[in-house]
Amino acid sequence: MSSSFTIEPSRRIAGTMQVPGDKSISHRALMLGGVAHGATRVSGFLPGEDCLATLAAIRSMGIDIEQHDATTITVHGKGLRGLRAAPGLLDMGNSGTAMRLFMGLLAAQGFDSTLAGDESLNRRPMERVAVPLRLMGAGISTTHGRPPVHISGGRKLQGIRYEMPVASAQLKSALLLAGLYADGDTVLTEPAVTRDHTERMLISLGLPVHRDGQTVSLGGGGQLTGTGIRVPGDLSSAAFFVLAACLAGEGELIIDNVGLNPTRTGILRILELMGADLRVEPAADSGAEPVGRLIIRPSDLQGARIPPELVPLAIDEFPMVFVAAALARGETVVSGAAELRHKESDRISVMVAGLRALGIEVEELPDGARIRGGSFSSGTIDSRGDHRVAMAFAVGAARAAGPVRILDTANVATSFPGFVSQAAAAGLAIKAERGD
Ligand code: S3P
Repeated sequence: MSSSFTIEPSRRIAGTMQVPGDKSISHRALMLGGVAHGATRVSGFLPGEDCLATLAAIRSMGIDIEQHDATTITVHGKGLRGLRAAPGLLDMGNSGTAMRLFMGLLAAQGFDSTLAGDESLNRRPMERVAVPLRLMGAGISTTHGRPPVHISGGRKLQGIRYEMPVASAQLKSALLLAGLYADGDTVLTEPAVTRDHTERMLISLGLPVHRDGQTVSLGGGGQLTGTGIRVPGDLSSAAFFVLAACLAGEGELIIDNVGLNPTRTGILRILELMGADLRVEPAADSGAEPVGRLIIRPSDLQGARIPPELVPLAIDEFPMVFVAAALARGETVVSGAAELRHKESDRISVMVAGLRALGIEVEELPDGARIRGGSFSSGTIDSRGDHRVAMAFAVGAARAAGPVRILDTANVATSFPGFVSQAAAAGLAIKAERGD
């Protein structure tokens, strides 16, 4: 709780780096690998706390997972009906993805399950997933709409036609996972396209998934076959360094082997809109997920109206967009982003408070913010235990007038183990203090 970062001003960000594996894809590799037939070898796995919570849960349901090294594992899947009841409750830690995807997967099992989380996760909405799963026939109860979530097994699920009320890949994925076990087709229409890692991975595991515009569908009764999965570097982690390099006074940064799935690259489009000097080099030999290299040089960022249609494609990068806006010339308006209030923290109010603590003029809106660009003073930020808030301020703090202290940073380990040493290697003057 009392862990913190202190960042001193610095000018240069340079070098060649790779970031840890993609969090979304790592969760899915464990879950889908666990219910596929045979072995799924996963390389580039993210050994962050969120994915380790999923790993422990899958293991506790009887799936054997070999760990060859920190980032290479083999999941010995037992088929769609191979999971068995865990001996106790399943602890999802800080991870909304783990909890929501497991709700879909476990709704169709022959046994009961209880999913619980940490203080932050226990505040997040779960009825958005429970409601359509109940329409499919699942027995699910939440605690006033939040975790803990109890799932009664042994239900027969029916496919569903469902217009999703929110653009959420977690919701879509939960319903697709339940749909694997359902009678008939599951047909989902998204209000806006969201990340499609589940669909891509199901296809790699041999199960057809169809997309027609914003509608995605699959039929129940198929089966998955184990395969090799290469997890690319997480663009959501790389984005902190993309921003650091944009804000730098000198240097050039190269980030290799990063995921470039077009449902994730909204942050690159937003930074380009703001004037970033950014080169994207797609790799020729990408597998199910596009990968490539990013080359970033310093630039003078300009304020922008962020197009609301880019919000779902950059949903985890808004803490960075807020910091970019605060250090850009002119005004930036973020709108259509009310979902940010349901992340690991209420990212609109926590970012607004942090920007104000560093002397930035900002107006909070129900679905975003209006940010007047300026410069950061020295100061102290409370990240409220939100990993992405902590890392976004850490990179922005390099350009502050004096030292910046960021509090409550332990959860950086949920998505980006090694952040501090990689940031220091790239040129940030960052120190971590661990408290107990
Ligand atoms: C994720 C989807 C996003 C994102 C989260 C990971 C996923 O949530 O914020 O970090 O892996 O499906 P929503 O789809 O609910 O916006």
